Amino acid sequence: MEGQDLHTVVEQALAQVAAAPDRAALEHIRVQLLGKSGAVTAQLKSLGKLSAAERPAAGQRINEAKRTLTEAIERRRTQLQQTELDSELAAGRIDVTLPGRGQEPGGLHPVTKVRARIEALFRQVGFHVVEGPEVEDEFHNFEALNIPASHPARAMHDTFYFPDGRLLRTHTSPVQIRAMRATPPPLRIIAPGRVYRCDSDMTHTPMFHQVEGLVIDENISLANLKAMLHGFMEQFFERSLRMRLRASYFPFTEPSAEVDIECVFCNGAGCRVCKHSGWIEVLGCGMVHSHVLQAVGIDAERWTGYAFGVGIERLAMLRYGVNDLRLFFENDLRFLRQFRTG
Ligand code: DAH
Repeated sequence: MEGQDLHTVVEQALAQVAAAPDRAALEHIRVQLLGKSGAVTAQLKSLGKLSAAERPAAGQRINEAKRTLTEAIERRRTQLQQTELDSELAAGRIDVTLPGRGQEPGGLHPVTKVRARIEALFRQVGFHVVEGPEVEDEFHNFEALNIPASHPARAMHDTFYFPDGRLLRTHTSPVQIRAMRATPPPLRIIAPGRVYRCDSDMTHTPMFHQVEGLVIDENISLANLKAMLHGFMEQFFERSLRMRLRASYFPFTEPSAEVDIECVFCNGAGCRVCKHSGWIEVLGCGMVHSHVLQAVGIDAERWTGYAFGVGIERLAMLRYGVNDLRLFFENDLRFLRQFRTG
């Protein structure tokens, strides 16, 4: 009777073991069979009820069954472990044949490139690059530059004012004032940065970039200014070109001039870009006005200097042949991609 029971128990147990879906379930089955109050253990306990003659054979059968089950459980456990490992590996598999995400390399904005180029060229000839604040006060943006409140040039600057009287700088010239107040002469600086004017059309944007230049030293003349600018233009455009100064007016320089270069599109022959004049205006400059030197406490008897201001977008348009200023600010990738290198 006990033998029949044992056989059934083993048959059922083997089926259960084979069907165990995972290692936790298998462990549960093992405890039910071989644990302290398990079915096989119960069989062993019942040995006491048998006669001494029956006991050895029965004990042997039960131990046999126990071994069979232990081995079956062990095999199933190994099997399950392998299956689990396989599915973990399958889940984490990388398909190396899939196309990549296509990380496009970026590039510098043309304005940034031109600014960097200007800085590099001026550094080569001993200029320091300095910066000033974009939120300025009237003293630095106007007064110290010989533009008093009543001056008509104020109206021409289309200034954005803050309620407290401060303003967004309309040009980089206020950095001249800050540099001269911070460092005694001699001085050779350029000051690149953003400037703001309340103006917007084909050729004007409310924000654009300028580079201010300033040299203060003994015996500085207009000839020094002209030679330096000519050298810069030829380096910048990587070609020899003619340049001329035209008398002009700026409150902070005396004398003042506007600088034209030979048209880089027609080599001076005359075309639509230069309006058939052969010349293109590129910047304003002059000898620093004695009022400006006085405003910052520099002895105008001993020191003289020159200054210039140039639009970065203007130079970028000429260098890259861009005909609409607004393209620089629309961030159309079809435009920007053309400046990507390497
Ligand atoms: N600040 C002038 C402007 O924004 C440009 C300029 C002209 C700067 C002559 C100068 C200069 O330093 O000498 O239009």
